[in-house]
Amino acid sequence: MPKLSKLSRSVAGRRVLITGCASGMGRATAMLFADEGARVAVTDLHHEGAETVAAKIREAGGQAKAWKLDVSNPEEIREVVAAVAREFGGIDILVNNAGIAIPTPVDAAHYMDTWELTHKVLLTAQVLIIREALPHLRESDGARIVNIASTEGLGATGGNSAYAAAKTGVIGLTRSLAIELGKEGITVNCVCPGPINTGMTAGISDEDKVVYARRRTALRRYGDPEEVAHATLSLCLPAASFITGVALPVDGGLTIRRA
Ligand code: NAI
Repeated sequence: MPKLSKLSRSVAGRRVLITGCASGMGRATAMLFADEGARVAVTDLHHEGAETVAAKIREAGGQAKAWKLDVSNPEEIREVVAAVAREFGGIDILVNNAGIAIPTPVDAAHYMDTWELTHKVLLTAQVLIIREALPHLRESDGARIVNIASTEGLGATGGNSAYAAAKTGVIGLTRSLAIELGKEGITVNCVCPGPINTGMTAGISDEDKVVYARRRTALRRYGDPEEVAHATLSLCLPAASFITGVALPVDGGLTIRRA
């Protein structure tokens, strides 16, 4: 049957760079893009973890190559972004996902260390990678940037202020860049996951997760990494060409729930 619409819902052949792919949402996102036919640069601080994910993708018939990338290291960012662009012949999609969470009360002796590291990994890294990737994204016919923020950037929990501040920064960064790069057809969006079962939340007991999810979310449960990956992928489709500057909660209704 001839198609009655013109925008594509496929990322097949798109060249994607994702950070923090050895675990959680990064891994799920790398696997989903590969399942959908994209060529995936699987990067992580832990090289072995990235290699394992890339190997799994290739075993399943997908296209992926792993790189060690510590996003807190500007030199490594420069080298890896250039290497990915060389290997794939360009970059169409960037997913800034890598993250850490170190809950620290503001009066703790080491608070400023937490602040600096948190901002380096969560916020400064996203800017540095975008700056390096930009010349390549500008060559693409449908460039997409997705920054992973958090519901901690929309509201906040106590004892986690460095993280909340950095994630709020990610949302501001996304909005401003969406305007700045919009005239070039590059979309910039962010995804705000709520409570998701990943390495980051692995230290929380199942009982505590159940209580929290029942009390706080509409869907009464934690989310799976793949559910967030699908939101990210949706923002990267050619068909998402008029969506830019959004902060999309993928949170089971956490943000809208009052009681
Ligand atoms: P995770 O701990 O399962 O995965 C994070 C990945 O980032 C790991 O593979 C880790 O090695 C990598 N990473 C850490 N520091 C890095 C660095 N300096 N350079 C490169 N890679 C580094 O955690 P998760 O949950 O999958 O986190 C992904 C993103 O989602 C993060 O930005 C996080 O802040 C965000 N997020 C997570 C939520 C959750 O409930 N799990 C909720 C909201 C946001």
